[in-house]
Amino acid sequence: MSNNRRIFLKQLSGFAIGTAVLPNLSQASILPVNGTPINRFSSLMPPYNEGELFWKFVRDQFPLKKSRVYFNNGTMGPSPYPVIEMVKKGLIEANTEGDYSGQEIAREKLAAFLNVKISEISLTHNTTEGINIVAWGLPLKKGDEVIMTTHEHVGNAAPWLNVAKLRGIIIKTFTPALTAKENLNLIHALITPKTKAIAVPHITCTTGIVLPVKEIAALGKLKHLFVCIDGAHGLGSTFIDLQELGCDFYASCGHKWLMGPLGTGFLYVKEEMLNILQPYYVGGNAIEKWELSEKKQQLESYVPTAHKYDYGTQNPYIYQGMAAAADFVSLIGVKRVAERARALTTNLQEQLLYLDNKIEMLSPTEPESRGTMIGFKLKNMDYQEFGKKASENFFRIRLVPESDLNSIRISTHIYNSFDEINEFIDFVKKV
Ligand SMILES: Cc1ncc(COP(=O)(O)O)c(C=O)c1O
Repeated sequence: MSNNRRIFLKQLSGFAIGTAVLPNLSQASILPVNGTPINRFSSLMPPYNEGELFWKFVRDQFPLKKSRVYFNNGTMGPSPYPVIEMVKKGLIEANTEGDYSGQEIAREKLAAFLNVKISEISLTHNTTEGINIVAWGLPLKKGDEVIMTTHEHVGNAAPWLNVAKLRGIIIKTFTPALTAKENLNLIHALITPKTKAIAVPHITCTTGIVLPVKEIAALGKLKHLFVCIDGAHGLGSTFIDLQELGCDFYASCGHKWLMGPLGTGFLYVKEEMLNILQPYYVGGNAIEKWELSEKKQQLESYVPTAHKYDYGTQNPYIYQGMAAAADFVSLIGVKRVAERARALTTNLQEQLLYLDNKIEMLSPTEPESRGTMIGFKLKNMDYQEFGKKASENFFRIRLVPESDLNSIRISTHIYNSFDEINEFIDFVKKV
């Protein structure tokens, strides 16, 4: 056994408290870990080679049942055993020791994972919460304009629409195109002297278009706009260096591509924004100096970090689980995970494109705009009927009625395989 492999197995088994992962590890001891680099796959190549054995080993780290093909990571990413075991362990320990601390590990891990300061991370419960904090906390007034897409998930749409309803900001929209350059131009064209913010997704939930966040952030900086990114599909599906991306705010969740527990999320607030973004919900750990006595009633100051946006008692086990998910992805390698999920998506897209007389492809083919989700429509069948048949044939997919698309969305992540893609393509051909 090579040294690297020994270290990997040791580290991975170190995640697994309890026995759930042990049968998989013994099976894994015959598997090569340093498999063929993913970039050596041609996306239409037969899937069996050394690298596939490694990914089979990764698949075995998930309890996700094998009698169904799960293609809906875009809604919820199933957790691997190390995450589940961490949550279980935390729950038992807390109730054994009578101690409910321990969530700060998630703030530390996320900061390292995203290359930012711990003081710039707020721990939220989901993406929507982070977006609400930004939408309400920015100094926006009646008539100020915010640029968004027509492909928003309700989690990004609702907070900004609510600020429009209650505070009178104006929302300007564009329909995302299939190339990064076009998308940047579309945003540019909407900027007026009244524009104050750009509030767009990193990756659209409808057809998985990756927007050029770095360029959008640079444009925003040039025009003195707040750049607020809905990163629901970014964390864990793509390598993210938030310093390099340069946006002001980035909200995401642990339960999708990071494959962490439901109920976990984070909001990144760039240091320069900490004094600009006002906290509206505050409590323990969010405020620093305050007095409420007969003599004085005053909130003098908030804590100086992004901790001011999260407050009160938090659930340590789920955040420890989120930290374990970041460890799991880091151990395999964030870039490697992103490449693998993309290799699967690319393969699916290419095979679907061969059926072009039967399907309409909605997702980009431009590599930098293509993520880990593919959207398409069937020319001869309504999307809901397809959805019903897919479910009867044990495929878990997502239908997209949003933005009047009436389309089908397939998400691929590291627990999926080329075999599953082939099975799905056979199914599409059949229907
Ligand atoms: C693009 C996008 N934004 C926001 C959300 C809402 O995320 P959360 O459930 O973490 O609030 C989702 C959920 O699917 C999404 O796809």
